[in-house]
Amino acid sequence: MAFTNRRFERRSKRRNKRKREQSYGNIFTRPSLASRAKSGIATGLIVLAVLFVFLFIFFNVFNGGSKVKLVEDMTAELNSHRSASSFVQEVTDGKITRDQAVNTSTIGKKTCKITVTSENGKEKDYEFQITVIDTVPPVIESEGNIIVFRGSEVNLLKQARVKDNSNEDPEIEVIGKWDITSAGIYPVTVVARDASGNKTEKEINLEVIDGNSKEGDYAFTTGTGHNAEVIGGITYIDGIIIANKSFSLPRDFSPGLANDAYYAFYEMVDAAYEEGLGLWAISDFRSWETQERLYNSYAESDPENVDTYSARPGYSEHQTGYAIDINTTDSAFGETPEGKWLMDHAWEHGYIYRYPAGKEDITGYMAEPWHYRYVGKELAEKLYNHGDWITLEEYFGIDSKYSE
Ligand code: DAL
Ligand code: ZN
Repeated sequence: MAFTNRRFERRSKRRNKRKREQSYGNIFTRPSLASRAKSGIATGLIVLAVLFVFLFIFFNVFNGGSKVKLVEDMTAELNSHRSASSFVQEVTDGKITRDQAVNTSTIGKKTCKITVTSENGKEKDYEFQITVIDTVPPVIESEGNIIVFRGSEVNLLKQARVKDNSNEDPEIEVIGKWDITSAGIYPVTVVARDASGNKTEKEINLEVIDGNSKEGDYAFTTGTGHNAEVIGGITYIDGIIIANKSFSLPRDFSPGLANDAYYAFYEMVDAAYEEGLGLWAISDFRSWETQERLYNSYAESDPENVDTYSARPGYSEHQTGYAIDINTTDSAFGETPEGKWLMDHAWEHGYIYRYPAGKEDITGYMAEPWHYRYVGKELAEKLYNHGDWITLEEYFGIDSKYSE
């Protein structure tokens, strides 16, 4: 135990001596003044070299040596085609080597990124923010009168052709008075505002026309967005010929049964036959004069009700050459296997149930489960609407009312 203590004391003395020498220097081993100066210069040089290397690395690696100056106006117009580089006014000691299209489809702040390669080949990414703004007001394209059918919807966005650079529809306000149930020319002011408050105003005439009674040929968009054309007194909407109480046909329009309606009808007859059902046409094309005789014969015996089931001459869909009465004109037909089959399958052959039960006020006629109208398969499927029939009047946004 004593031996261990002595060894410990000796070691401890040696350690203390080393410590003293380190703290105060040993006067016998201290370096001369000249050699101390030399080592000071060397240390300084090393520090400078390290600093130089550091600055070199900083400028070449981090800074890349190039500088980017941005333009003053850091805004882009909504839906304009701008690239990030279009916001750069100048690049010093380098060039843009990676650019990016700016998403200008919505307003607000956007981050843009470019890559600049300095003359010594170092790449650096720059990020900056720009703001997408909308200063372009909506445009009201329509010139002259806006035509709307009596009793139809007015949708000035479509009818006045109001367009905006934004993806959202502008708000439309119409200042003025008009009566959609009465034909006439109504002066109104259309005010269109976009979501950023840009505004356009235009004075226009809203021309409410009574069916197709307006003089001359004309074309326009209906309130439900369909293309209406009146040519030689015949109305076509999306190319579909229209005849109802509001839309008449000229007396000399006598096309006979249309070929496409004829072929589709016999295709339908064959399909029904396969199911053990017999279909036959009892009346298809009817001329103006034939309709006149028919209407007058009903009018004589039943003047009160005739307009609910027989069209006046010039207003019958049979005169278009696209309507066929099938099997009977008995109201109970709708409950027979043939009547039911037609209601479920006629659309597959391009035919529609033209005067559905429950829509008497819209079509202007009582239900006629035997009267089918050819419109083509595409439209027929839409109007069939999984069995909840839509009328041509509803679909095109038109009415069916005699003007007197
Ligand atoms: N029965 C239809 C409505 C017509 O006369 O055309
Ligand atoms: Zn009929």
